[in-house]
Amino acid sequence: MADITETSEWSALSEHQGELAGRNLRELFAADPGRAERMTVTAGDLYLDYSKHRATDETIRRLVALAERAGLRERIDAMFSGEHINVSEDRAVLHTALRLPANARLTVDGQDVVADVHAVLERMGQFSDRVRSGEWTGFTGKAINTVVNIGIGGSDLGPAMAYEALRDYADAGITARFVSNVDPADITGTLAGLDPETTLFVVASKTFGTLETLTNARVARRWLIERLGDEKAVSRHFVAVSTNAERVADFGIDTDNMFGFWDWVGGRYSMDSAIGLSLMVVIGPARFRELLDGFHAVDEHFRTAPFEKNMPVLMALLGIWYTDFFGAQTRAVLPYSQRLARFPAYLQQLTMESNGKSVRADGAPVVAQTGEIFWGEPGTNGQHAFYQLLHQGTRLVPADFIGFAEPFQDAGAGGDEPGMHDLLVANLLAQTSALAFGKTAEEIAAEGTPADVVPHKVMPGNRPTNTILVPKLTPSTLGQLIALYEHIVFVEGTVWGIDSFDQWGVELGKVMANQLTPALTSAEPTGETPDASTAALVRRYRQLRGR
Ligand code: F6P
Repeated sequence: MADITETSEWSALSEHQGELAGRNLRELFAADPGRAERMTVTAGDLYLDYSKHRATDETIRRLVALAERAGLRERIDAMFSGEHINVSEDRAVLHTALRLPANARLTVDGQDVVADVHAVLERMGQFSDRVRSGEWTGFTGKAINTVVNIGIGGSDLGPAMAYEALRDYADAGITARFVSNVDPADITGTLAGLDPETTLFVVASKTFGTLETLTNARVARRWLIERLGDEKAVSRHFVAVSTNAERVADFGIDTDNMFGFWDWVGGRYSMDSAIGLSLMVVIGPARFRELLDGFHAVDEHFRTAPFEKNMPVLMALLGIWYTDFFGAQTRAVLPYSQRLARFPAYLQQLTMESNGKSVRADGAPVVAQTGEIFWGEPGTNGQHAFYQLLHQGTRLVPADFIGFAEPFQDAGAGGDEPGMHDLLVANLLAQTSALAFGKTAEEIAAEGTPADVVPHKVMPGNRPTNTILVPKLTPSTLGQLIALYEHIVFVEGTVWGIDSFDQWGVELGKVMANQLTPALTSAEPTGETPDASTAALVRRYRQLRGR
């Protein structure tokens, strides 16, 4: 496997970066005003303006050539057809199969995966309908009004983010809560004030071996039994989502109340599998289907659109452009929607667990920088917190701005005052314009600013952004947005030559935590600590706990 940095396509980009580095966005727009209309692309309902990038048509041509050299076309076909592209775990990577329509066909490793997917969706739908209609009752005969999802990582962030995003579509009077951390504050805070008779726990874990999830689930089970006074209550108040039926049964959950998925669904790609059960109960199976159809629309765009008109491909290649040719370390994701408050956190797992790798799929060390650091907050809150650094700091922070044309519900003071949603969107547009075009010393001086203050007010501009404009936040457009970022991850991983679907880096810490627990809890100090610093901290902790 040739290192991508040794290809002529990579060198062509390095050379091109040298030519472009001295030009700013003001000049690029002055020389080519048509770029505002031309450097745009649509995918499903998503509209992307990528004109405010330090890039020209030539840049895009060279980036696309790099993707072709990396074998992107073949890799896309390999993923969609179920080849084992997760090499270190020898697995297919088929989250795209989770949203195929029922009449599609895909046979992988001798198995009709579409039939399997729809069989589980059917069971989830029936169960959700029963809970939503009140036909499924708790142990004492009362209908369920709260679902508590117990999971972590991909078994938490997806449904938690989507619940927040789609809470306007919760139409059955059922609310959801999410517990993930092994910090006791999380489960105790979540259970506080809940009525055990009307609470349903969804224990979501792909492996059903995750310390945090099993610990929280045991605490919840004890809480329920203590209050309802009978172990038999568990079967009416606990269901499981997992790939591991044996462990679900060992935990004491009836496997009739288990919803399965498959090892070809990575945890961080699983919110559209049975892991979405808590969300489906809240918004209903039809809305959940709309979410899946939204994912599928962008899957089809990604699979079929030419690279220069392909939204995930373009956004990924521009990410590589800044990461590897401009030295950018991070990408801010700034949704102008309070409902998407958890979207950046969701993307952190999706992107950083996938592409935070320093060896290639063939085991050789990578040479280029990989793994953009994703972070962000909803606008306008971020504007009053960290945008100062985006505008005037010394670092280059490319940013994705996401806005919606229609609010679910607008508000306003009335009279001549604009509606709140228009204020929100005006802020988004103002920020991307200020970031791109800034304000020069001459312009600031011309406003009568004292000379000694002028340098402080200069806005350098030339800060690149994507603007994604969406008609409205719906189940479908949420699915489209998630699929967009899933495929960005895939394209970046392909160019970097890494396996975006394993996560070995999280394993060592889990093993060590298990080994360290006795050192903290045993009656006598055990001496079983991995290093001198940890040993000293263990001593200090024991002392503070009076052990
Ligand atoms: O620790 C990382 C991880 O393995 C994630 O990839 C996964 O989403 C999370 O833990 C939870 O795993 P599980 O669903 O098996 O409980």
